[in-house]
Amino acid sequence: MLSTKTLFGESMQLDEKYHLESKLVLFPGNVLDFLVDIPDESIKLVVTSPPYNIGKVYENRVGIEEYLELQKELISQLYRVLAPDGSICWQVGNFVDKGEIYPLDIFYYPIFKSLGMKLRNRIVWYFGHGLHARKRFSGRYETLLWFTKTDDYTFNLDDVRIPSKYPGKRHYKGAKKGQLSGNPKGKNPSDIWRLMTEEWESGLWEIPNVKSNHPEKTIHPAQFPIELAERCVLAMSNPGDWVLDPYAGVGSTLIAAMKHDRKAMGCEKEQKYVDIARQRVQQYASGTLKTRPLGKRVYQPTGREKIARYPEEWKTERLLDSNPNWLKDGDGDLHESEH
Ligand SMILES: C[S@@+](CC[C@H](N)C(=O)[O-])C[C@H]1O[C@@H](n2cnc3c(N)ncnc32)[C@H](O)[C@@H]1O
Repeated sequence: MLSTKTLFGESMQLDEKYHLESKLVLFPGNVLDFLVDIPDESIKLVVTSPPYNIGKVYENRVGIEEYLELQKELISQLYRVLAPDGSICWQVGNFVDKGEIYPLDIFYYPIFKSLGMKLRNRIVWYFGHGLHARKRFSGRYETLLWFTKTDDYTFNLDDVRIPSKYPGKRHYKGAKKGQLSGNPKGKNPSDIWRLMTEEWESGLWEIPNVKSNHPEKTIHPAQFPIELAERCVLAMSNPGDWVLDPYAGVGSTLIAAMKHDRKAMGCEKEQKYVDIARQRVQQYASGTLKTRPLGKRVYQPTGREKIARYPEEWKTERLLDSNPNWLKDGDGDLHESEH
């Protein structure tokens, strides 16, 4: 067992198995074996990214029907442990077979719906980088389905508001003319989340003065940013509630929950990820884990970086002919027009 020092300001331990006094649990093993010990209706929030069945090192790829059958069994267990005012946040991308894509959220929707759950948002997690497709448009987003068990659910919008673009905007007519029209706590972050994006992938790392690595990245091939889980934790649970990640990977959801004084439990079958998750939890507790602060602005190239300029070899008349909206500036550098 690991001893960690901060959760609710107390000395805490990371348990391998759930028991009634637990506050932090990481089970090394299969998720269905873990869930049998979890009491009914005890969990306020599930945040997870399941295996996509796309042949990552930690999965045995099977047909999509067989994959979904296995997931159905798990989701019915998650439903059992979920509190009546609880939520499930299910983050997925595409399953790809012979070049054909199967957006997994479409396949998961009927499973949740058959349990009587209600979809509150289909959140688009947009990121600016990734693999470049050749026979279809490059994929640049994944989705997060937010389902609630009932109509009476926790949603703390004020805890996840983001700065308004025009906080000084006022009503220009009607009874409220002249009064500020926004909310001093900021605006609703909407259902398109542009978190960490450019900083995650390695492509931009060569830009001078930009850190050469996202502070959170580990060897896990499908890790999500703590920030993504953090927004769910803040919005859909309260301090002291249980947050569960059945596919915990390197512990991103657990850390998001710890950061905001929630109890956290997770399960992970690969020992190497369990080891990293334990190490990260311990680093978080001792204040040495590097994380990207929630709400930090995404890095935007200014256009002046060498890597953002058009290379000499590409500045041909042909390029200009085929891209009439691309401008040529005084230095001979090409920039994409804004409109
Ligand atoms: C998409 S990754 C989740 C990554 C995680 N969100 C993070 O940020 O680290 C899915 C994880 O589920 C684990 N996994 C797959 N099947 C499992 C099972 N039956 N029981 C427990 N863990 C499983 C995989 O080893 C993998 O680490």
